[in-house]
Amino acid sequence: MHEFNYKKGQLYCESAKIEDIARTVKTPFYLYSYKTITDHYNKLRRAFSSARPLICYSMKANSNLSVVKILVNEGAGLDIVSGGELYKALKVGANPKKIVYASVGKSTKEIQQAVKAGILMFNVESLSELNMINFVARKLKKQVKVAIRVNPDVDALTHHYITTAKKENKFGIDLNTTRDIFAKRRAFSHTKIVGLHTHIGSQITQSKPFIDAIRKIIRFISELNKQGVRLEYLNIGGGLGIIYKNEKPMTAELFARSVLPMLKKTSLKIILEPGRFIVGNAGILVTRIQYIKRTKKKRFIIVDAAMNDLMRPALYDAYHEILPLQKINNKNRGSKADVVGPVCESGDFFAKDRNLSVLDEGQYIAVMGAGAYGFSMSSNYNARLRAAEVLVMKNKFYIIRKREVHSDLIRGEEIPRALR
Ligand code: LLP
Repeated sequence: MHEFNYKKGQLYCESAKIEDIARTVKTPFYLYSYKTITDHYNKLRRAFSSARPLICYSMKANSNLSVVKILVNEGAGLDIVSGGELYKALKVGANPKKIVYASVGKSTKEIQQAVKAGILMFNVESLSELNMINFVARKLKKQVKVAIRVNPDVDALTHHYITTAKKENKFGIDLNTTRDIFAKRRAFSHTKIVGLHTHIGSQITQSKPFIDAIRKIIRFISELNKQGVRLEYLNIGGGLGIIYKNEKPMTAELFARSVLPMLKKTSLKIILEPGRFIVGNAGILVTRIQYIKRTKKKRFIIVDAAMNDLMRPALYDAYHEILPLQKINNKNRGSKADVVGPVCESGDFFAKDRNLSVLDEGQYIAVMGAGAYGFSMSSNYNARLRAAEVLVMKNKFYIIRKREVHSDLIRGEEIPRALR
């Protein structure tokens, strides 16, 4: 499943010993496996190959230029949500004709940039936004393709923070409003509605929510067809879950088998927008134990990474497996411990009451499953430097983002004269 394995008690990424990298790069740092990224992408591509879909990697999961470049080299398109992601996508030479753009709040400027870049299509999330896209396209004398992001009102059966297709969520447009938009479609002189898009949530492990959503949308498409609407694309979003602990997510194969027959009947070009499935288990966060602190109630393992580096535990109470880089052959599994960072918040933890083997100060540990929504959600909170990012290819490693330095912390800041 991934390329992080023990060999003779040492954790390796592909054929590179991670501890050697840690000694050179210093901690904390993110480490990604090239092979895992490409394997996961290709698993999905193969599973869906009979439909020849466009797989648009969702950049928000991990937008490091090298990670995006790996996927672009494999032939992937990109799913973007901001002018910043568009900038990064173009920087790695992505083909704009394979870029789709979702977000409930695209600014006028972002729309202009994307129209000028000639992206494949916008996934539109409101009538006001459609009006704005049409306005911008007219000004730039361009014809722009859009898909309507519909909200099918299904429960993705995942964490409520990452459920996106229930009627109380801000995403997408309900079917009734979408009907009205199609009825008025001729009023949008510079915009062609070429498809429907949906993204029902993230870390989804069962096929049912996908099937429910797709079924609803297909029924809706046949209704539109009867009214003379002809579509080209159906984008079923991302959301495929991965294993963090003991989840039993669908494999790419199973996912494809459960949705492909329905999708094929539409004869529409299929778009997928996976993020986590591709990079989630392709990355880890390596950190060093600084101190072990015992209190009357607890044992705290204090490491040099913190919630600013990986905020999923703090934000979603997410579980991430923790492995020592050097396997400890001690039968004594050690007492339960909290693995925490130096940030001044009680929410700054990577694990709570975890049965970890005996670990000591100075040892390195890996926070697993950190390739998606890890670095991309990191911050400088507590004026901490953002971590380095490293890519392993076979036995070689490359620093693909330098660790920040103090001057990065004040870039752009200025003290006005009045304060001097
Ligand atoms: N397409 C759209 C429109 C999305 O909003 C997302 C994710 C994706 C695709 C990719 O979803 P994926 O395949 O990665 O599940 N920060 C959270 C996840 C937020 C997901 C946001 N949207 C986490 O760390 O769990």
